[in-house]
Amino acid sequence: MYDGGKIITGVIIGLVLMTFPIWYTSGRAAKKPDIKLPVKEKQCVEPKDYMRKKHMQLLDLWRDSVVRVAQRSYVAFNGAKYDMSLQNTCISADCHAKKTEFCDECHNYTGVVPTCWDCHIEPKEEPKEKPEEKH
Ligand code: HEC
Ligand code: HEC
Repeated sequence: MYDGGKIITGVIIGLVLMTFPIWYTSGRAAKKPDIKLPVKEKQCVEPKDYMRKKHMQLLDLWRDSVVRVAQRSYVAFNGAKYDMSLQNTCISADCHAKKTEFCDECHNYTGVVPTCWDCHIEPKEEPKEKPEEKH
């Protein structure tokens, strides 16, 4: 015969577990990304608004242009010329050298995981300085 008590307990435990993500996170929002801007350059290859919305398309365009038609030079909106390179331009020392504090900060927040770094080299970053111990 069925054991009503055990079934009900089981159903309650099941419901609690199933709805855990809802009530555990309710009222809490993920911490907003704290994006650090480039080291030296003040202007990206296109205006900020465009980059925010379309940097992924632009990167794909750069990749296809370099890899498929061997065209490596990009003329920006203001006439400036750039080498279409993820490593040498975007995440170079003068620009988004702190990938973890720029790209990753926002991608982690939005749950985006670009696979580019499987092949492309990430900039080397100094580990964050530890606060000096007081004696
Ligand atoms: C499977 C390995 C692989 C992956 C994954 C990959 N790439 Fe590449 N990418 C390459 C290779 C190889 C080249 C050619 C390098 C060259 O000729 O300078 C290249 C070239 C490029 C270039 C132009 C040259 C340069 O120095 O950057 C861009 C821009 C680029 N890829 C962007 C991307 C982006 C954006 C992603 C992620 C969406 C990505 N790639 C993912 C292998 C890869
Ligand atoms: C302000 C937030 C933000 C910052 C900063 C940012 N990204 Fe993104 N990125 C996004 C969002 C959101 C998406 C997903 C867009 C979509 O799926 O349509 C994305 C998507 C991408 C993609 C496409 C991934 C895919 O799987 O198709 C690439 C490549 C990429 N970002 C590269 C970069 C690089 C490189 C940097 C740093 C130089 C960077 N992003 C900085 C928000 C950001």
